[in-house]
Amino acid sequence: MTLLYHADAERGAEWAVLFAERAPEIPFEYRPDAVSPEAVRFLAVWHPAAGMLQRYRNLEVLFSLGAGVDQFDLDDIPKDLPLVRMVEPGIAEGMAEYVSLSVMLLHRHFLDYVGQQRAEVWKLKRFYPTSCLRVGFLGAGMLAQAAIAKLQAFGFTLSAWSRSEKKIEGVTSYHGEDGLNAFLPQCDILVCLLPLTPETRGMLDGALFSKLPKGAAIINCGRGQHLAQSDLLDALASGQLSRAILDVTDPEPLPPGHPFWHHEKIFLTPHTASMTQPHTAVDTVIDNIRRHRAGKTMVGLVDRHSLY
Ligand code: GLV
Repeated sequence: MTLLYHADAERGAEWAVLFAERAPEIPFEYRPDAVSPEAVRFLAVWHPAAGMLQRYRNLEVLFSLGAGVDQFDLDDIPKDLPLVRMVEPGIAEGMAEYVSLSVMLLHRHFLDYVGQQRAEVWKLKRFYPTSCLRVGFLGAGMLAQAAIAKLQAFGFTLSAWSRSEKKIEGVTSYHGEDGLNAFLPQCDILVCLLPLTPETRGMLDGALFSKLPKGAAIINCGRGQHLAQSDLLDALASGQLSRAILDVTDPEPLPPGHPFWHHEKIFLTPHTASMTQPHTAVDTVIDNIRRHRAGKTMVGLVDRHSLY
């Protein structure tokens, strides 16, 4: 009945301590060689190595250690094996920090001042009340909602788009194809927090940028594959976009000499916007195992059709 945490051993050791404290009835292991594959009923992984699942024939649930599941080859995962993504408060909190920080950096022109300082330029740029800045979210799930809650406290004007209809208190919500066309012109800053699916791959492209207000900025915390890279370069060159803050790229890291590395309008961070936090994630996984055993729906259960 073991849960095998098959990822970074240092964090696995942290999980082991927390599991022993909080759910002593669930055997936990993070050293794959220390458990017989037949005993593994629950497997928690980030990037499963090819063929890994064939080793664990008695799996009842496969947990992703991240919020996304695009790193899995779904053809390799039996259709009747529940796949659960990480929907835990720590990852939401980290994302809320990163998005708020990025929006504030743009709002207060900090990225311009970095360049100015290096050039010994002392020149202020005007800023306006937060309510004048319209921040729009592509994606309205747990991560977007956590960021929205923080930005609401600052008073930004907020909207969100999702594929299917979703209502968020204090936020103008849009959905579907028509909703997207109405949403984009309202975004001075566009934050991408979409899952990567065949429908969203390459969605941040020239056609989408052209519907944003001229001079808009984008923040991509989804996946590198959401972005059409040369379209971004074109939009920055034409001034259609003013800046891009990218936490994700394709590939990661970018190859040496890639135009994004030195682009003065692109700010890169190394896929660090958020991370699963053992202290909170352990409770989420324990709760899900208990739900599974009680025949209840697990939180974060991935729909094999919508892929999130
Ligand atoms: C990280 O990108 C995640 O999916 O949690």
